[in-house]
Amino acid sequence: MDSAQSFVSSQPWYISLLLAVGSVWVLRFGAQTLAVLGQVFLLPGTSLKKFGAKKGAWAVVTGASDGIGKEFALQLGKAGFNVLLVARNATLLNTLGAEIESASGVKTRVHVIDFSNSDEAAYIALSSAIDELDVGVLVNNVGKSHAMPAYLVDVPLDEMKDIVAINVGATLRVTHATLPGMVTRKRGLILNIGSFAGSVPSPMLATYSGTKAFLSTFSAALDEEVRRKGIVVEHVNTYFVTSKLSKIRRPSMLIPTPKAFVRSVLSKIGLPCGAAFSGRPATSTPFWSHAIIDYAMTVISAPALFVSYTHGLHKSIRARALKKKAKGE
Ligand SMILES: NC(=O)c1ccc[n+]([C@@H]2O[C@H](COP(=O)([O-])OP(=O)(O)OC[C@H]3O[C@@H](n4cnc5c(N)ncnc54)[C@H](OP(=O)(O)O)[C@@H]3O)[C@@H](O)[C@H]2O)c1
Ligand SMILES: *[C@@H]1O[C@H](CO)[C@@H](O)[C@H](O)[C@H]1NC(C)=O
Repeated sequence: MDSAQSFVSSQPWYISLLLAVGSVWVLRFGAQTLAVLGQVFLLPGTSLKKFGAKKGAWAVVTGASDGIGKEFALQLGKAGFNVLLVARNATLLNTLGAEIESASGVKTRVHVIDFSNSDEAAYIALSSAIDELDVGVLVNNVGKSHAMPAYLVDVPLDEMKDIVAINVGATLRVTHATLPGMVTRKRGLILNIGSFAGSVPSPMLATYSGTKAFLSTFSAALDEEVRRKGIVVEHVNTYFVTSKLSKIRRPSMLIPTPKAFVRSVLSKIGLPCGAAFSGRPATSTPFWSHAIIDYAMTVISAPALFVSYTHGLHKSIRARALKKKAKGE
């Protein structure tokens, strides 16, 4: 100790200053890393009971017939919520409803809607279906991406319109239909399913990327509006998950199945995990490997680097997709 003190006092003032600044940085980095690891690997999230599980409350899941949405419906049913399943394909939804009822002994309902061209009448019908229920959880999961990465000048107008109508429009309208009941009952959980493409501006998926950034800002703003009314709004950030949308079938350490991904989301409600210290309030990056990537990107803090990496990645994905298309696969 003495020798350390005499070492410091024998240095010029600017060396001592550097040491002080360095020590503060190291301490802060250590504390933040411990907080992130604690949230990802140790701490439990808010219990779903707080939102009405096993007390007759309903969960509304959009895009429930496949992928991540289907898994939310299954796991929320298992947790003791009745489930309202929303998507286009009635056959798939009815089959899933029967599966959830027999596996979990909860009630299910099906509502068919196409969010890509839903007029006022379609939204009024969905609103009345929601109004009949005590909704404890809303999962704004439905989402559409580009058929393949493309520069904006080459994106078909229909695709562009659908992506905005589904990712932004449906989230706004379904939230607006669900929120009044939650405010009256003073409880609710709203999960908005985002994407790394929302935090890393993604060239050649510019429209999709912009809609996912919307979800991040929208969630943070809405959470502040309703938090004191007992409602939690959470923007769920994720890297790839195996599904039809990602066109990835084989899971890996970085790419979980919908089952593993949804388990991580539902067990970490209210914990930002990998998004802690990222300057994105109301965001959570709960899947462990996604959390580590997100936190590393926060620490590296060089957005331009990730944008340019993503551009390169998407150029090669497009080249491969075009080749596959030409072969008629
Ligand atoms: N998979 C990933 O790697 C990944 C990564 C980041 C973020 N995400 C986000 O996660 C969410 C779910 O993605 P996913 O991978 O599970 O997708 P998915 O497997 O393609 O499932 C999409 C679901 O949405 C429904 N849907 C599609 N278009 C619809 C429309 N026009 N109207 C109503 N329902 C519609 C589909 O059912 P019907 O065909 O029956 O309508 C299906 O149930 C999306 O918001 C996506 O952006 C996914
Ligand atoms: C619904 O999904 C099933 C199974 O994938 C498919 O056979 C059927 O054609 C779909 N129905 C509609 C209306 O898209």
